[in-house]
Amino acid sequence: MFKKGSTSAAQRDPELLVGLDLGTSKVAVVVAERESRTGEAQIIGIGHSPSQGIRKGLIVNLDQAIRSVKQAVADAQNMVGLELDEATVAFSGSDVLSVRSKGMVSLGRSPRPVMQLDVERVIEAAQTEVAVPANQSVLHTIPVEYSLDGHGGIDDPLGMTGMRLEIDLQSVIVPTAALQNVLNCVEKAGLEVTGLVIKPLASALGSLSPEEAMAGAVAVDVGGGTTGVAVFSEGRPRRLSIIPVGGDHLTNDVACVLRIPLSKAEEIKREISLFGDPEAQDETIDFEIRGRNYSCPVRDVADIVKCRIEELYGVLVKSEVAEAGLPMLPAGLVLTGGVAKTNDLDGFVSEVLDMPARAAFPLDSGRMPPGRNGFEYACAAGIIRYMLERERNPFRYMEPSLDQIKRQGPTLRGGDERPKQVPKKPAGPSGLEQMLDTLKKSFRELF
Ligand SMILES: Nc1ncnc2c1ncn2[C@@H]1O[C@H](COP(=O)(O)OP(=O)(O)OP(=O)(O)O)[C@@H](O)[C@H]1O
Ligand SMILES: [Mg+2]
Repeated sequence: MFKKGSTSAAQRDPELLVGLDLGTSKVAVVVAERESRTGEAQIIGIGHSPSQGIRKGLIVNLDQAIRSVKQAVADAQNMVGLELDEATVAFSGSDVLSVRSKGMVSLGRSPRPVMQLDVERVIEAAQTEVAVPANQSVLHTIPVEYSLDGHGGIDDPLGMTGMRLEIDLQSVIVPTAALQNVLNCVEKAGLEVTGLVIKPLASALGSLSPEEAMAGAVAVDVGGGTTGVAVFSEGRPRRLSIIPVGGDHLTNDVACVLRIPLSKAEEIKREISLFGDPEAQDETIDFEIRGRNYSCPVRDVADIVKCRIEELYGVLVKSEVAEAGLPMLPAGLVLTGGVAKTNDLDGFVSEVLDMPARAAFPLDSGRMPPGRNGFEYACAAGIIRYMLERERNPFRYMEPSLDQIKRQGPTLRGGDERPKQVPKKPAGPSGLEQMLDTLKKSFRELF
């Protein structure tokens, strides 16, 4: 399964689990070793590389993306002293559909225990209700809830007695071409793909505590180009979605309004705080561009960033949460991804959405390598948890056969392919654009 390397670590012949997070900003490879006694896995290394050829979570330049994956794999191999040859891949993209359907099967005229075949039949019945658009594939089939003889809220019906088994099923549907490009890229980088997981699910598994997932919570992973939203309740994902907006939009807004290079805007964006001490907000940020010195109040940069964050969380994330149709989410928002590093993001978002919010380190951060255990690694760490859950309960997160996906139509052969955009906003300037225009005008006098 894994080729051995030459160092002493390799001589132990461990059972490894490998996850690959194909991000817009970075590619991360997480390696975990299974403890033979408990069956639990312990993360032993994380490799990473800056991401090239991936935009808004989609592969737009195959050769560059392959190079980034190879670099991240080499980094992970160096860290763990083993050669890796397979991985489960966290996948993203903007055109993701989360569809709910129901299925029902009869168990006979008199009550009898539910068998595995009955569970398979009821899942199949609900699957036939889903209309999968042309050129799209079902990536995950997730049972949300079972009922027996009309009594709902059943987590696992196997062995329970009844006459009628029903299911509420969630199907996550993504463009087939995007999946094929991911498979093609990772395989060309030298790894066999053992599974695919939609990023918001991996991030949620990597960051939500079991109590939060049971009580009802929203895991929001804001990366460089995308925002993953996973609404959980009673321990199960109720809705998984991806919004094609991320931290790079914040950088872009700052660069546009202040008319400064992106690299400088990125630097300044990381310095500000969204909330808190008014005196700190009155301070200025001094910077130099092409030999000229500039000075800008912290408050003004914070206003630009707040504008976009308000739209992202207060409008886009809020509408995804509303779609899940759950009246109560008492555990609130759990924030991950690189953008969660923004100072006081949790306080600001909590105010915008009127819900509790916390910036969350990965659940496994204590056992992850220092410097690679921050908010932006929740998704990578979550892939390992996903692999373990899928193994423990094969009915929890079902995936299609990867061979079947590969057989459907052509894949990206290299060069550029632009990602498709989901038109989320109505035509005409949005509130955010109007606000940014106003900010731009006021800054024109500064520069
Ligand atoms: N200290 C910081 N303050 C604010 N933002 C930050 C900070 N550090 C990183 N970021 C932002 O986090 C983003 C990258 O996050 P992350 O590494 O989670 O992205 P990714 O997983 O590669 O992308 P995606 O999930 O969208 O495909 C960038 O937009 C970066 O500007
Ligand atoms: Mg990410």
